[in-house]
Amino acid sequence: MSMRDRNAWLKGGHSQCNERPASPLRRVRFVLLGAPGVGKGTQADLLARYFGACHLSTGDIFRAARAMNGSASRALQAALEFMKRGDLVPDETVLALVAERIGCLRCQGGFLLDGFPRTVAQAEALDVLLAGHQLQLDAAVSYELPLNKIVARLAGRRTCSACKKVYHLDQVGESEACVNCGGKLIQREDDRPESIRVRMKAFRQAAQPLAAYYESRHLLVSVPAEGAPEAVLQRTLDSLRIHS
Ligand code: AP5
Repeated sequence: MSMRDRNAWLKGGHSQCNERPASPLRRVRFVLLGAPGVGKGTQADLLARYFGACHLSTGDIFRAARAMNGSASRALQAALEFMKRGDLVPDETVLALVAERIGCLRCQGGFLLDGFPRTVAQAEALDVLLAGHQLQLDAAVSYELPLNKIVARLAGRRTCSACKKVYHLDQVGESEACVNCGGKLIQREDDRPESIRVRMKAFRQAAQPLAAYYESRHLLVSVPAEGAPEAVLQRTLDSLRIHS
């Protein structure tokens, strides 16, 4: 698996990344927290490039399973129904998928976990999994943004159906083609208003206990997610006291 090639993560391989961190002093293991649409995936991509770490998203696993058109396992098919409604997938299913991917968590460049953990039970299970491989989290970065701005980001999100690059309508206007590969830009199924409402409710229920969990371990770093993606990246690095 090469750097930022998320195939092993998506397929559930046990492969271990051969890439090295951008600097040996900078191997990072972060979880990224925050509401749907706050910009976790966008920041994970920028941070992955900055640190030479792997960007690992549980939502991506479910979307890849959906693209398999019915050939995914029964447990995954059931998970997709939760996702379609905007509900959280049961912990048991998510944890089994992450545990299968321990090779990716052992990536020498470190990792950025995007969208996992989402509950205290998942956070506890992640700690146990990492401890079993003598690994430790460095930080839980929590992105914060007012609800009206989150909704605007979600409503305008478009994703390339081929390379999965994420855009906002502000960037692409009326264009329906990906700048990266020419693929068709589509709106995510769970970005419809009825699913957004369910996702926000699920987030509100789980967010506070999860933040408290990481705060009690002195790992929580809150970062305002206002402004352009590069400004949020710089704010993240400043909050983590990382200087180039
Ligand atoms: P997942 O894919 O993880 O979705 P999410 O957490 O709802 O987060 P999003 O991907 O919607 O948003 P994001 O914060 O990454 O924002 P993005 O960078 O794209 O999960 C989907 C579903 O899978 C869940 O609902 C659940 O069912 C299931 N699931 C996944 N993990 C699970 C788990 N651990 N447990 C249980 N269930 C799980 O940005 C959004 C938009 O804003 C884009 O258009 C982007 O271009 C734009 N944008 C980003 N940053 C900026 C900025 N700074 N300024 C302006 N625009 C910006």
